[in-house]
Amino acid sequence: MEARQVALESRSPQRPDDLVVEVEEAGTEAVAGAVERARAAAARWAAAPALERSAALVAAADALAGAAEEVTGLVVREVGKPVTEAGAEVGRGVGILRYYAQQALDPDGETYPGPSPAGLLLARRRPRGVVGLITPWNFPVAIPLWKAAPALAFGNAVVLKPSPESTAVALRLAELLAPALPDGLLQVVPGGAETGTALVDRVDCVSFTGSVAVGRRVAVAATERGIPSQAEMGGLNASIVLPDADPQRAAGVVAGAAMGYAGQKCTATSRAIVVGDPARFTEALIAAVGDLAVGDPAEAATVIGPVITEPARARVVAAAEEAAAAGGRLLTGGTAGDGAGWFVTPTLVDRLAPDARLAQEEVFGPIAVVLAVADEDEAVRVANGVRYGLVGSVFTGDLDRALHLAARLDTGMIRVNAPTSGVEYLAPFGGEKDSSFGPREQGKAARDFYTSTRTITVLPEGSGEPQRGAPVNRARG
Ligand code: UN1
Repeated sequence: MEARQVALESRSPQRPDDLVVEVEEAGTEAVAGAVERARAAAARWAAAPALERSAALVAAADALAGAAEEVTGLVVREVGKPVTEAGAEVGRGVGILRYYAQQALDPDGETYPGPSPAGLLLARRRPRGVVGLITPWNFPVAIPLWKAAPALAFGNAVVLKPSPESTAVALRLAELLAPALPDGLLQVVPGGAETGTALVDRVDCVSFTGSVAVGRRVAVAATERGIPSQAEMGGLNASIVLPDADPQRAAGVVAGAAMGYAGQKCTATSRAIVVGDPARFTEALIAAVGDLAVGDPAEAATVIGPVITEPARARVVAAAEEAAAAGGRLLTGGTAGDGAGWFVTPTLVDRLAPDARLAQEEVFGPIAVVLAVADEDEAVRVANGVRYGLVGSVFTGDLDRALHLAARLDTGMIRVNAPTSGVEYLAPFGGEKDSSFGPREQGKAARDFYTSTRTITVLPEGSGEPQRGAPVNRARG
């Protein structure tokens, strides 16, 4: 097939006339070439001593740490993440590389009681080969790295297809890490859906983060090819506020988790479920959201920058209008901001039924609902009454109630007196229901996905197993 050339543009959401990068999309042939190079690199890498892989990841961490300011600036410019949060994300990326540099040195399998005391029965970890990563724009450093670092640590090669909106960050990341890694081991194929499809068609395993619709397609395509896949998709995370919780404190945390980075996180809080009279919490939440600085993401104080694109902004405004038409009360926001960037005012809605669209579907913007419920049973019903199940949080000083409530939530992660957003890279990450598919990411869980096991039996010479079943046959005869 003739290679078709498609240009891909990535623009700054705060200044859409700022063209951050323009590159050619990787077509099918380019993807095939990248995977072929990766396969050659993977074979050598898998054969390298673990100490060498570990040292390479430490060098990669140092390279990123040395360029932290520059990468932070590029994250701010390309995806509009406020600089304080962007800097923290780059720091997290460095931490992730260091963490998996250590995991490369962990025991690489288990021993089992063998058929004879002198023999060995082992299950050793082996890499899968070439790993395809499809990643979103909202964590353009942390997500590619929390997938790539374990993949590399355990002996795989990586081909990364970033979201078009974060192309520049992905390319720069690969460039920075390249001197630390063998040629071809970490490659980026810029592009959209076609590039992603070409990648899934060729790799040995695929890890995806993005929307439910695309994640499902990736999982189906991977399954048809018989390769493992994992997909992290949407969230519609609830924070349950119990009557004993300090409304001010809970509201401050919920405001940050709902609106930080303009709510563009699968872990953002989109529903505050208040048990009992919601008045004090709601008032505190409006005030807390009002205190969050909206504006230029390059300013250190900014918490809420623009959303990623014009259609993303239109979706937030439309969701607010629809919620109001459905009987909701607009507490604040709901309008497009002034100026050239894709700003939208942080939006809070209450008095909606739990089955209203805004309380059921992810908007991926700075918009959240306050839902009042009579008791804890209703709180659990409402919290679980959505198709997502990523994170849930509970605010209370009563540990006993927190534990009982947490045990009833259908989410992969539970946080008590903590924001739904924010991830510890040393613990497993993932959700239930439509939020996630396949094995967990991060922490020690990553090894299960990026490796397979090989069971090995070793017997002392001359002690070959006798034919099983023979005595039975003799007895029958
Ligand atoms: C975080 O909350 O720090 O795409 C990370 C997302 C999630 C990552 C959240 N997979 O928003």
